[in-house]
Amino acid sequence: MVRFFITGGNPLRGTVRASGSKNATLPILAACLLQGAPNVIQQVPALKDVTTMCDVLEYLGARVNREGDSIRVDATHIQSLEVGEDLMRRMRASNLVLGPLLGRFRRVRISHPGGCNIGSRPMNLHLKGLKALGARIEEKFGYITVEAGKLEGAEIHLDVPSVGATENIMMAAVLARGTTIIRNAAKEPEIVDLQNFLNRMGARIKGAGTDVIRIEGVKHLNSVEHAVIPDRIEAGTYLVAAAITGGDVTVTNVIPEHLEPVLAKLKEMGFLVETGDEHVRVAAQDRRPRAVDIKTLPHPGFPTDMQPQMMALACLAEGTSVITETVFENRFKHVSELRRMGADIKVEGQIAIIKGVERLTGAPVMATDLRAGAALVLAALAAENGTVVEGVEHIDRGYEKMEQKYTALGARIMRIST
Ligand code: UD1
Repeated sequence: MVRFFITGGNPLRGTVRASGSKNATLPILAACLLQGAPNVIQQVPALKDVTTMCDVLEYLGARVNREGDSIRVDATHIQSLEVGEDLMRRMRASNLVLGPLLGRFRRVRISHPGGCNIGSRPMNLHLKGLKALGARIEEKFGYITVEAGKLEGAEIHLDVPSVGATENIMMAAVLARGTTIIRNAAKEPEIVDLQNFLNRMGARIKGAGTDVIRIEGVKHLNSVEHAVIPDRIEAGTYLVAAAITGGDVTVTNVIPEHLEPVLAKLKEMGFLVETGDEHVRVAAQDRRPRAVDIKTLPHPGFPTDMQPQMMALACLAEGTSVITETVFENRFKHVSELRRMGADIKVEGQIAIIKGVERLTGAPVMATDLRAGAALVLAALAAENGTVVEGVEHIDRGYEKMEQKYTALGARIMRIST
């Protein structure tokens, strides 16, 4: 069991560097399965989810070597085309091997990822896309088997712009015959990074970042080196830390455009926001933040992965904020824990109504998922007296050295493992 013990009340000040993006790294590591030559991925964050993806690759037979923030993946010899229950349960994103293994070997079998703490998270769009490329799908005994004699380019319309489905279809289509067009594709920056990585390998993909992606199948791919983009969610979390503690923090190694929806809300709440080429500064002004309405949406809308953190901030705003979660159906688990700290939040379906309070108070709280955990830490940094956050294992999935980064900004936070 890992806990954080946090004594709140210190305004955070200083500069912190964002790590490489978790959600860009995971599909790029999976994409290394597409060809039998080594690739080097740089600026890889040291996170539990990244370790899990490396374990998946090694389990399948790839050789994975990590040196500092670089990972070399050599997927020349693949011995297995199956990912079992243990690895799938450790991380849903293990399902990103579907596209590349199908593309290269025309067969893949994975344990069904099932639902998770934030929603039911079906796989129908991943499978619909792969089927359109010519694959046969069998779902039996908790496993999904996907097989294809040959893969042919196709036009695919996604009902919802799913990030994972877009990535899996892109990866499978790279080695298919002919042209694939994905309509209503996800537009997240991580999709653009995957396109850049695949194109560097020799793929021919256009349109990532818009809702139509066009993939011309190719026969061969080459070894490449690629540095992943900075983590916009990690960066956003540290900017909210500046805001919630009444501090002044500059986050470096960011692409400010990726943070636009978050920065717009911070400005609306009355914070000073400054952007440079590769940094963003957020500073508190001499008054309480104003309440704000937020609706999560696929990119470039407000990211669901920042919703819990912004809710923590809204708890201390002047007035009533309304937060609507439209991406995941069960992403309000942090609400009951924030209430334990004195927050005044009502939930009606997918809508949370947050009446700002003047202060939060420390309490024992439990992180139930990664971003809920990040939100509780933020609340604790602002709270009076001490907070114990349990379930830090969830936080470690997506934040590199969180307590060290916060400590460097002046927070009082201790990791306790028992
Ligand atoms: C990715 C991110 C996650 C982020 C999410 C939304 C990674 C590793 N994870 O998750 O951090 O919160 O995007 O920005 O990049 N859906 C379907 N059918 C499908 C697939 C998805 O109905 O086949 C629905 C989901 O239930 C959800 C919505 O689409 O309601 C968005 O999910 P999706 O974009 O697929 O999220 P992930 O790729 O799993």
